[in-house]
Amino acid sequence: MRLILAPMEGVMDHIMRDLLTRIGGYDRCVTEFVRVSREKLPPRVFYRACPELRHGGKTPAGTPVYVQLLGGIPDCMARNAQVLENLKPQGIDLNFGCPSKVVNNSDGGSILLREPQRVHDIVKAVRTAVSTHIPVTAKIRLGFDDGSLFEDIVLGVEAAGATELCIHARTKQHGYKPPAYWSEIGKVKPKLRIPVIANGEIWSAENALQAQADSGCQDLMLGRSALSFPDLARVIKAQHHGETYTPMTWDEILPIVLEYAHSFEERAPVRASGYIKQWFTYLYRQYPEAESTFQQIKSMKLPSEIRAHIGKNA
Ligand SMILES: Cc1cc2nc3c(=O)[nH]c(=O)nc-3n(C[C@H](O)[C@H](O)[C@H](O)COP(=O)(O)O)c2cc1C
Repeated sequence: MRLILAPMEGVMDHIMRDLLTRIGGYDRCVTEFVRVSREKLPPRVFYRACPELRHGGKTPAGTPVYVQLLGGIPDCMARNAQVLENLKPQGIDLNFGCPSKVVNNSDGGSILLREPQRVHDIVKAVRTAVSTHIPVTAKIRLGFDDGSLFEDIVLGVEAAGATELCIHARTKQHGYKPPAYWSEIGKVKPKLRIPVIANGEIWSAENALQAQADSGCQDLMLGRSALSFPDLARVIKAQHHGETYTPMTWDEILPIVLEYAHSFEERAPVRASGYIKQWFTYLYRQYPEAESTFQQIKSMKLPSEIRAHIGKNA
């Protein structure tokens, strides 16, 4: 089985990818989306989304990072994929799942699921534009309004030459509301030859087993749970291999949070406290201890103040 760290705009940047892949258990990451419009983006846009491109496209722990593109016009996507190809990415992922109104209004993300032909054309254009050794993957939901076009979409993605397909088992209308409908993936999986990755609502090792059973997929993608449970990938892998693994305690997590807080002091001091607090809101799903620390740091503005406070407990 493989575990993929989900793309998450505004949270899963290269620092978080570094921290989580160092903890381990992940086989691949995907960057936050890079929005493609009509013009050819300069390389610096791709380097910003994926600083790992300067290091062979891998995190310091050696985990490959695919760069995600989002856009609705096949030849613009293809032209930008060629710019990206020159930077030697480990792979290119195409976003057809983003539910954001702003993104959907600008003709990108999940709105494209209303048009299976366009999804096909985008995948095909990118696949044709870049060398065959570069994997081109797609990430979709079950549909936009409902799942009526789901089978057309997945068959189109495969016919267009995608290397792999990741399916977030909800429609755009479902948003992020539980449950995720893993068995919907299971209905189309036997019709596909490319590897399929199941995604959505996998918060525990038990959920991972159930998602595999319902979807028929070996490979899974973890999103929010990777933030709330930083070593969940290791727990799931240990379960898969029948090994014993003791999950990290809050005391072991705290120094990692501290490292995250520290990384912001130089690179983004203004936004830092927001990002640190944001991670806490995820962490307290798994660690009740995170909630009391969050209450204490909630009104703090300076990252150094937050770091000093966390540091006292670490
Ligand atoms: C804050 C946030 C940002 C996200 N950004 C992206 C993105 O940039 N690209 C993408 O394909 N999916 C994005 N997603 C969707 C996730 O990759 C994933 O499909 C979704 O969260 C379901 O998985 P989960 O239940 O494991 O979190 C985002 C989700 C969240 C919550």
